[in-house]
Amino acid sequence: MLNIALDGPAGAGKSTVAKALSAKLNVLYLDTGAMYRACALYAQKMGVAVKDEPAVTELLKTLPLSVRYENGKQVTLLGEEDVSEAIRRPEISMMASDISALVPVRQKLVEMQREIAQSMDCVLDGREIGTFVLPNCKNKFFITAAAEERAKRRYEELIARGYEADYNAVLSEIKQRDENDKNRTFAPLRQAEDAIVVDTTSLTIEQVIDTVISLIQK
Ligand code: DC
Repeated sequence: MLNIALDGPAGAGKSTVAKALSAKLNVLYLDTGAMYRACALYAQKMGVAVKDEPAVTELLKTLPLSVRYENGKQVTLLGEEDVSEAIRRPEISMMASDISALVPVRQKLVEMQREIAQSMDCVLDGREIGTFVLPNCKNKFFITAAAEERAKRRYEELIARGYEADYNAVLSEIKQRDENDKNRTFAPLRQAEDAIVVDTTSLTIEQVIDTVISLIQK
């Protein structure tokens, strides 16, 4: 199977690159962040605090999470409900970061991700795909950018989607999520030794995509 691992902090452009690679290389895109987000949304629906490890561990037993593909696009489901939009709500971002720090959550979702990656050619984006989920993957990239640039992009994306947003609040949340994702003890956000770093701070999205595609084809 062709697997491409894209890791990096929030807002670095991973999902944009992943979508473009998926279209250009005709492979599917597995958005692993969507899975952590769906898990956080489920906890919210069930009234469970995302930092309450025993309660979340219990909740995992009934987590009705699945992903499927419609016209090549990932649909994230909780039971029969398509939550692909609901998981993008701004308050879910921090909750996803918090719930993803719990080891039982990661064990469950990583197992699902490995099964999916074994069954189809795909590009995966996340925080530790290259270091932990698929350590033997041949195509690993670490997509990064300055926090201020990532906050600007996230702010513009929120406004474009009709949310109210404040740049400074977005920046401080991005920094807080970086800290959370980097400092958790189990499988933190980290660059794999064999990953190629692409700093997107002053690149256009087309430049980033061309860079990554030419590196994969090498
Ligand atoms: O990529 P994202 O913003 O949708 O991810 C939401 C949170 O999920 C992120 O803050 C950390 C967590 N996450 C993770 O721990 N591992 C992944 N492979 C993907 C996301």
